[in-house]
Parts: sequence; C-alpha cells; structure tokens
Amino acid sequence: MKQNLDWNNLGFEVRETNAVIVSKFKDGVWSEPEVVKDLNMVLNVYSGVLHYANSCFEGLKAFRGVDGKVRLFRPDENARRMQRAGVFLDMAYPSEEMFVKMCLMCVKENLDFLPPYGYNASMYLRPLLIGSNPQLNLLTSTEVTFIVMGNPVGSYSGTASLTPVNAVICRDFDRAAPNGTGSYKLSANYAPSFRAYNRAHAAGYKEILFTDSLTHTKIDEFGSSNFFAIKGNSYVTPLSDSVLPSITNKSLQQLAADFGMRVEKRVVPVSELDEFSEVNACGTAVVITPIWNIVDKATIEDSAIIGNHVFGSKEVCGKTSAMLYNTIRGIQDGTVEDAHSWCITL
Ligand SMILES: Cc1ncc(COP(=O)(O)O)c(C=O)c1O
Repeated sequence: MKQNLDWNNLGFEVRETNAVIVSKFKDGVWSEPEVVKDLNMVLNVYSGVLHYANSCFEGLKAFRGVDGKVRLFRPDENARRMQRAGVFLDMAYPSEEMFVKMCLMCVKENLDFLPPYGYNASMYLRPLLIGSNPQLNLLTSTEVTFIVMGNPVGSYSGTASLTPVNAVICRDFDRAAPNGTGSYKLSANYAPSFRAYNRAHAAGYKEILFTDSLTHTKIDEFGSSNFFAIKGNSYVTPLSDSVLPSITNKSLQQLAADFGMRVEKRVVPVSELDEFSEVNACGTAVVITPIWNIVDKATIEDSAIIGNHVFGSKEVCGKTSAMLYNTIRGIQDGTVEDAHSWCITL
C-alpha cells in the first residue's frame, strides 16, 4: 500500500499505519514478537496500567537518508533508558536486543509511511511497556505487554524548524519530586503536567520551564525536553536527579565537545539565566527548540512578572545552536559522517 501523504504537512498526529509489533511477558517469558495489523487491542479492564499507571514508554525516530538508507537514531540508548524505567517499576522489560529488533520490525512493516528524504519528516517510534494482567491489588504487574508503534511525523509545533518560542517558569506546579520519578520515562509523569500546559498556552506561552521542587532556584528541564544554554564557548546543561536523561542532549553534548566547546553539566541557578546568549529546549521530537524569552511569575496565570529573560533574537535560532542542530540532523539524514556510530541502519 503506497501512501499519498502530504509529507510537507504531517504535523505530530496519530495516523493509521500498517501494523504494530507486540510481545507479551507471561510466566517468566516473552512471546515471539508479532506483527499485529489491528491497532485496537483488547485489554482487560482490570489491567494495572489503566488503574495504577504501571507503564513507561520511549520515543525515537527513523529517517530515510539522502542515500536511500533507513537510519534509526540511537535505539540502543532508548532500550537502556526503558530498562532503567522497568527496573524502577519492578516490571519485566525487553532486552536491548529485543527492543532494537522490534523497532526495526516496526519500521519495516510501515515502510510506506516512512517519509522520503528532504521533507524534514521522519517516523516517530513509540515503544510502550504496560502492565496488562488483571489486578485490584496495588502491586507491580506480573504480565506485561510491550508494543512498538510507528507514526510518520513532521513539525511538532506546526512551525518551521528552529522557530524560537517563549516559555514561562512554573512555580505553582512541580513536575518531579526530589528522589521522585522525574528521571524515568514513566507514563505517570506526564498527565499531571497537562493542566499546567493548558494554562500556559492560554496565557500565551509555548513552553514551561520547571525548577527543582525543593527550592525553586535551580533549573531542571522543560515539560518534555531538556534545557541547554550557550555561554561563551560553553554548552551548559543542568545536572539534576529529577530530569530525564535526554538522548538528544547527550548527543548534543558530544557534538559540542567535538567542536571544541566546553561542556558544563552542573547545577544551573535561575539567577544565571541572563548570562546565556542562547537557550534551547532539546528532545527527539524537534532536536532543538530555541527559546527567545523566559518569563518568571509566581503562578502561570499571574499578571505580575517577577523576571523577564531574553536571549538572542525572536526570529532566528542562535548560531551555535543552529550549528549543533544541523550536525545532528545531518547525521540522521546521512549527509554528515556518523563519527560515533550512533545510527543503526535497517
Ligand atoms: C521530560 C522529558 N525530558 C526530556 C526529553 C527529551 O529526551 P530525548 O532527547 O531522549 O527525546 C523528553 C522526551 O523524551 C521528556 O519527556
């Protein structure tokens, strides 16, 4: 089935694709991964995931390169991050080999939906691990289902890549508690932030910046992306137990070091914001979103502004950040040498 999709305007929406790949863990073993054509699955209404959020997920991308090859960007890193979450949830989780194999199977089964080279579009892969045995008791799941979905995506925000956006510091809601779950990609981490996002969007802010929930003086991360800034020749990113270890951030740090920049992974106080020339959110969905303005308020809906930090231009991404973006996108597209062997080809 050849798809007639408008590759230029895919956005970030769910599309009906050919198949998903499913494996189930029961009685101590994972079933052989299966190609499942029906995207609607039957789940017992007592499944732990539906009640207690016994669940974690991942997000990574597959790209069709300039040379026609299909590349997955660092799926081994996502596999290991899911394993960390699985250990935290005390749930069975796929081996790195099984995770990568199922991601590759998913791309293969949905090749018609993999955007061609040149549209700044890709296939977003969503591996999901859920507790699926019926349960009322508050316990970890004994039966687990692992599903890998693939979905063609373009621009996350509907704007051209590297379009700067504004952000607000969130002081009336905390994303992650000290010693909490912030550094794991648990499904339960996300729903609680949606209300804050709705309020921020209604107030005219695209992004929310979270600070440490104990003192609210140190930068953690944005709602679904890490924070990094450029200061002189340094790449600065927060060291915090509460942020998700972003694979994009890790890759950008390596590229910054390759370019001879100093990489500073350390506590970043909010009070340092005005010392940065470029500030960005980074993550798989967009790689880099330049942040041109961060507003600080007691609550998102407050009219009183207690801090207003402006970085570079409202129109264009900073030069260093754009260079890092182009390098990582080039590696994904096969136009820049993959010197660290990050991509796995189909
Ligand atoms: C809370 C949070 N931080 C950061 C990221 C970025 O991580 P990555 O670069 O691995 O996509 C994500 C997205 O996965 C996220 O949900």
